[in-house]
Amino acid sequence: MKIIDELDLAGKRTFIRVDYNVPLDKSGDVRRITDDSRIRGSLPTVRYALDQGAKVVLASHLGRPKGKVEPTMSLAPAAGRLSELLDQHVTLVGDCVGPAAQEAVAALGDGEVILLENLRFHPEEENNDPAFVAMLASLADVYVNDAFGTAHRAHASTAGLAGVMREKAAGFLLRDEIKHLGVLLTGAEHPFVAILGGAKVSDKITVIENLLPRCDAMLIGGAMAYTFLKAQGIPVGGSLVEEDKLEMAAKALADAKAKGIPLLLPSDHVVAERPSADAAAEVSGLDIADGWLGVDIGPESRKRFAQEIASAKTVLWNGPMGIFEIDAFAGGTLAIADAMARNPGTTIVGGGDSVAAVGRAGVADKITHISTGGGASLEFLEGKTLPGIAALG
Ligand code: 3PG
Repeated sequence: MKIIDELDLAGKRTFIRVDYNVPLDKSGDVRRITDDSRIRGSLPTVRYALDQGAKVVLASHLGRPKGKVEPTMSLAPAAGRLSELLDQHVTLVGDCVGPAAQEAVAALGDGEVILLENLRFHPEEENNDPAFVAMLASLADVYVNDAFGTAHRAHASTAGLAGVMREKAAGFLLRDEIKHLGVLLTGAEHPFVAILGGAKVSDKITVIENLLPRCDAMLIGGAMAYTFLKAQGIPVGGSLVEEDKLEMAAKALADAKAKGIPLLLPSDHVVAERPSADAAAEVSGLDIADGWLGVDIGPESRKRFAQEIASAKTVLWNGPMGIFEIDAFAGGTLAIADAMARNPGTTIVGGGDSVAAVGRAGVADKITHISTGGGASLEFLEGKTLPGIAALG
């Protein structure tokens, strides 16, 4: 796979697939970007192409408009934010294909940049339609994929376009994501500790299976821990449990035991009567009484998990330890963010919620790599081949 700095970009129409699928606050009249890290993440690639004198054509999806023009899913806020960050005007072109796109690209000067409107306004994007791929290809001399967050989708602008373009490369963000996440699968420095959280065992089970033989300890928190605890016969009160995943959890526990890899679960909890900010809450020991549900890991678990993190040379964290959107139940997640920040080794954070927690704890600059991928980083860690990456090879 080539990297963008191996291509000659001067004067060339350089189509860069980015992932500007950013969260928006839709409560007011103006849609505000609540986390611009995906746009910031693309800056090294975009700036490099502009500095090389490329005519830069950016394309992305936003949300899931289901193949129809959906004004609330316009990329206009992303164009505005990118203009600010680049300190250079970025025109949003009304359509990603057809006359509007053709004219805008033809008018582009060297070192100028445009952003095409949401690719998913056309159903052909997600269908990876060959005629649509050809229309996108007609806008470009060179293809660069920097959309790690979308690398698990075999869509027209990812797998399809890479398949037909002769000159193609990965952008710097895609390169860095593959490098940092790839090390976890191929050669992490030991001790390697993985911390997984979040609500569902089903979302993480393949990652657990794929990482278990590679790591020295695995820590599990968040709601999925209650399924693991119940699978061992430990009372979990009214905590969220995936009854149909109990067997899966028991098998993972048995696998870890057979391999001699410690799989640590919370030994105490913050419990509440309801999962809401105004509910009565207290700290509970390992057993959760009826009428209470686990909403965060407890102080003893935080300490144990932090000790494991402190002793590791490589740490991966994906998924919150509790309902961290509610301040009273955020302590465990923030404690993990803090322990990650204090580890001088390689620290990698993936998944929207843990990334947000690192931001909220104010420690983002202390983390080795914060992935811009949600589903993509999980599929990568499951060991799957991501179509957007494979097509660049
Ligand atoms: C993401 O946010 O995970 C990516 O942008 C992919 O979005 P999708 O799940 O709608 O394909």
